[in-house]
Amino acid sequence: MSSDGRLNCSRKLAHVLAPAHKAVVTMETRVLIPPSWVELASLISASREEGFLFLVRLEHEYLSGKVRYDGSGETLLGVFENSRLIAVGGLTQETDSDVPCTGRVRDVYVLPECRLRGIGKALLAELERRARPHFKVLVLRTSGVAIARFYERVGYSRAKANSAYSHRRVLAS
Ligand SMILES: CC(C)(COP(=O)(O)OP(=O)(O)OC[C@H]1O[C@@H](n2cnc3c(N)ncnc32)[C@H](O)[C@@H]1OP(=O)(O)O)[C@@H](O)C(=O)NCCC(=O)NCCS
Repeated sequence: MSSDGRLNCSRKLAHVLAPAHKAVVTMETRVLIPPSWVELASLISASREEGFLFLVRLEHEYLSGKVRYDGSGETLLGVFENSRLIAVGGLTQETDSDVPCTGRVRDVYVLPECRLRGIGKALLAELERRARPHFKVLVLRTSGVAIARFYERVGYSRAKANSAYSHRRVLAS
């Protein structure tokens, strides 16, 4: 755990030692392909209650075969806390971009009760680590002001006004 009390998720199993009177918390990031719809159900339901439809769309698009997260460099990751899925985030190729080797960050969602603990930041860092061998630039689309602040906080820049994306990040090699 870092000095400000945040949890650092790593792709390997991380044991976070709590004070003796508290339980040990385990955090793990895993590839969710093929997705476990049973595990994803609580995130889909929570996101829908907040008015976000992108995880509902994820399920429809995966089942219809439209977006499978299985192309070169693509992935869908889940963060598990004590074996419970608490966050999800995806990466796909962005073929519409003028810039070759562009990837798209998508479907990033952290359960409301797990927010502001560094989970989203750690998940993006892991997506970027996996993206680096395949993509030079990552783009994303968001219209939410607060969500934009999150992406800007973790290193994404606002795209030009007429761009198809809201944010982008050039990946260092
Ligand atoms: C956006 C979201 C993924 C952030 O996840 P999170 O785990 O709470 O974020 P973190 O704790 O890793 O925060 C990282 C940084 O962003 C900041 N941040 C996070 N949420 C923020 C918000 N709503 N407004 C402003 N800043 C925010 C944090 O303060 C932190 O900054 P710091 O490192 O300087 O302290 C989460 O709030 C979420 O799932 N929102 C709803 C779904 C959504 O809109 N997803 C994006 C679809 S494009």
